Amino acid sequence: MATSSAPGKVYLFGEHAVVYGEPAVPCAIERRATVTVEKRADERLRVRAQDLSLEGFTVEYDGSTAGTPEVDVTEDLVEAAMGYVDEAIAQARDAADAPNAGFDVHVESSIPLGAGLGSSAAVVVATIDAATRALGVELDREEIADRAYQVEHTVQDGQASRADTFCSTMGGAVLVEGDNCERIAAPDLPFVVGYDGGAGDTGALVSGVRSLRETYPFAADTVESIGDLVEQGIDALEAEDTTELGRLMNFNHGLLAALGVSSRSLDAMVWAARDAGAAGAKLTGAGGGGCIVALDETDATETALKYSPACAEAFRAELDTEGVCREQ
Ligand code: MEV
Repeated sequence: MATSSAPGKVYLFGEHAVVYGEPAVPCAIERRATVTVEKRADERLRVRAQDLSLEGFTVEYDGSTAGTPEVDVTEDLVEAAMGYVDEAIAQARDAADAPNAGFDVHVESSIPLGAGLGSSAAVVVATIDAATRALGVELDREEIADRAYQVEHTVQDGQASRADTFCSTMGGAVLVEGDNCERIAAPDLPFVVGYDGGAGDTGALVSGVRSLRETYPFAADTVESIGDLVEQGIDALEAEDTTELGRLMNFNHGLLAALGVSSRSLDAMVWAARDAGAAGAKLTGAGGGGCIVALDETDATETALKYSPACAEAFRAELDTEGVCREQ
């Protein structure tokens, strides 16, 4: 039996513009998915998933790799997560040269699903690491990140970026430029996350930005401006200048709003955080709904968000520097 955990992430800067080759900085956060894998005597795959975030629920899934799938899930998002587990197990079987290995898999996650916090990447990374170890193979982090990316690429029909899986595997602040990802220096970042309880449609939001960019020169300039702002953000990270980081987050949110990817609830949470004294606040991920991220060393932002009608859940989730962890 092996247990691994892996963190979720927020975008400090650069979502959407990264689709057009601009740099972006996702950061791993201290909210994890934990996956326990036990090898079975037969070839079956049984998955039990527990969502420990907002409205926690448990589902069981009798995997598709041996015989007919018997899926009894009521939550679409959890059903989608099962697809990720299936593909992660396929990668583990391939890595360990054990195509017929069967497993019992138990997934526990405190990362809200589909809300821009990289929940699927965390589950995939932890599953690959735990399942390969259950088969007696220890992969290095580069291979885990690469195999986890292959999983997201397959499940998301070729649309995935390497950002989430790399960030979850390596931890820390990551600079993404095109297909290249590397860890960069960062101080402790006092992240506070506000979650509206919903989720945006990433595909539709990315297409919306594409058509805006093709129609209006201002939108193309806005995408470029986000890239310029990210370069300044990297300098602020190096200088450990939290005030400047917050200011740049505020600018980044404004530019994302100009691209049409914010929402009433995201804007309300951003303003609740700023009014509470956060150094800065912005939406994180595709937008349209889901999460905002703020920087605040005090408890004021978390408390203010909890009282904001737009916010379903608020929590502190500081920068994670460990990435994937072998728990057992
Ligand atoms: C979504 O988490 C981030 C986007 O930039 C899309 C992507 O990079 O694939 C909006």
